[in-house]
Amino acid sequence: MEKWRGKVAIVTGASSGIGAAIVRDLAKNGITVIGLARRVQKIREQTKDFPENYANVHAFYCDVSKIESIKEAFKLIEERFGVINILVNNAGIGKKTSILVDDEETDGKISQVIDTNFTGLVHVTRHAYMLMKKSEDYGMVVNINSVAGHKVSFPYYGVPETNVYNGSKFAVTATTEYLRHELIQMKDKKVRVSSVSPGVVDTSFFHSSQMLPDNIEMRDVAPVLNPSDIADAVMYLLQVPYHVNITEMTKVFAVFTRTSSEIGAEIVKDIAKNGINVIGLAQRSEKFKESIGAKVNDYNCVVSNLDSKKAVFKWIKDKLLLTFLFTYWRAAIYQHACRKDFCSEVEQVINTNLIG
Ligand SMILES: NC(=O)c1ccc[n+]([C@@H]2O[C@H](COP(=O)([O-])OP(=O)(O)OC[C@H]3O[C@@H](n4cnc5c(N)ncnc54)[C@H](OP(=O)(O)O)[C@@H]3O)[C@@H](O)[C@H]2O)c1
Repeated sequence: MEKWRGKVAIVTGASSGIGAAIVRDLAKNGITVIGLARRVQKIREQTKDFPENYANVHAFYCDVSKIESIKEAFKLIEERFGVINILVNNAGIGKKTSILVDDEETDGKISQVIDTNFTGLVHVTRHAYMLMKKSEDYGMVVNINSVAGHKVSFPYYGVPETNVYNGSKFAVTATTEYLRHELIQMKDKKVRVSSVSPGVVDTSFFHSSQMLPDNIEMRDVAPVLNPSDIADAVMYLLQVPYHVNITEMTKVFAVFTRTSSEIGAEIVKDIAKNGINVIGLAQRSEKFKESIGAKVNDYNCVVSNLDSKKAVFKWIKDKLLLTFLFTYWRAAIYQHACRKDFCSEVEQVINTNLIG
C-alpha cells in the first residue's frame, strides 16, 4: 500500500456500512480520503476519533442520484484537491417493491435505485476520471457491485422483491467491463478498474431498503460477511503491483481445485501460510501433500470424478457448516483436432474445467 500513501481517494456512500469501513482502511494506510454521502455529519462522527497517524478524511455532501449534486461536489473537490488517484463507487440502495405493481410510489422507488446504483456510478466515474488524468499518476476505480450483479436468485430467507436492484447491479458489471475496454482504446495504461461483488454483508442495507422487517437481522437468517471483509478486498486490489489487473473479486471462502501443481499449489501454500485451512482438490494428492506440508487438510479427490466430489462436499458440509463459493483456474485447452484420441481428451478437458 506504500505506493498510495499521500494520494487522494474518493469513497461514495461513506456514511455507513461498507463505505465507512473502506474510509477507515484507506485513512489507516496514509491515503487522504474524500467521503461523499448525503449524511455528511455521519461521516464526520465516524472519523472524528481516528488515531493521529491516520490520514485526513474530508466529508462532502453529494447525492449521487442527482447529476447537479455530483457536478457541485466535484467542483469543490477540484478546487480543494486538484487531483485524485482512487475512486471507490460504493453508494447503493435497494427498495422493496415489485416491477409489476401499478402505483406512483413504485415509479419513484425504481428510479431511485437505478439513479443511485447505476446512473450515479457512471457520472461519478466520469468526473473522477478527469481528476485522475490530471494527476498524470496511477489511478484505480473500484466498483462495489454484488453477487446480485451476476446472478438473479429466487427470493429466499424472506427477502423477496429486490426488484430492479439486480438489474442495476448487472449494469455495474457491464459498465465495469466496458470501462476497461474504453481504457484500452484510449491507451491509458495507468488507470485500472475492478469490481468487488459481496454476498450478504452485515450492514443497515436490508433495513434501509425495507427488504427486511425491523425485528429481523440478516445475520440471524443467513451467513453474513462483515463490512471489514469487503474493505480488506478493496485494500488487496490496491496493494497488488500496477501490472496486475484483477477485474472482479467475489468475496468467498475458497475451495481450490487443481492444487497439486504450479498456480494452484502456490495459492494454497500462501493461504495456508496465513493459518487458514484449505481444502485442496487434486488428482495427484501425494504431490499436493509434498508441496504443501502438514498444515493443510488434504482430501483425496479426483477432480473429474463427480462421485468423489460429492463425498468431498458432504465432508465439508458435515465438518465446516459454511457456505462456499469456488475459485478454480482453467487448464489450457490445446489444439486436439487432428489427434486420434480427440473425443476422450475433449471429454476430459470438459469434465475437469467445467463439470468439475
Ligand atoms: N449489505 C449487503 O448485503 C451488500 C451486498 C452486496 C453489495 N452491497 C453494496 O454495497 C454498497 C454499500 O452498501 P451497504 O451494505 O454498506 O449499505 P448501507 O450501510 O445502507 O450504506 C449505503 C451507503 O450508500 C449511501 N447512499 C445511498 N444513497 C445515496 C445517494 N443518493 N447519494 C449518495 N450516497 C448514497 C448512504 O449514504 P447516505 O444515506 O448518507 O447518503 C450510505 O453511506 C451498495 O452499493 C450495496 O449495493 C451490499
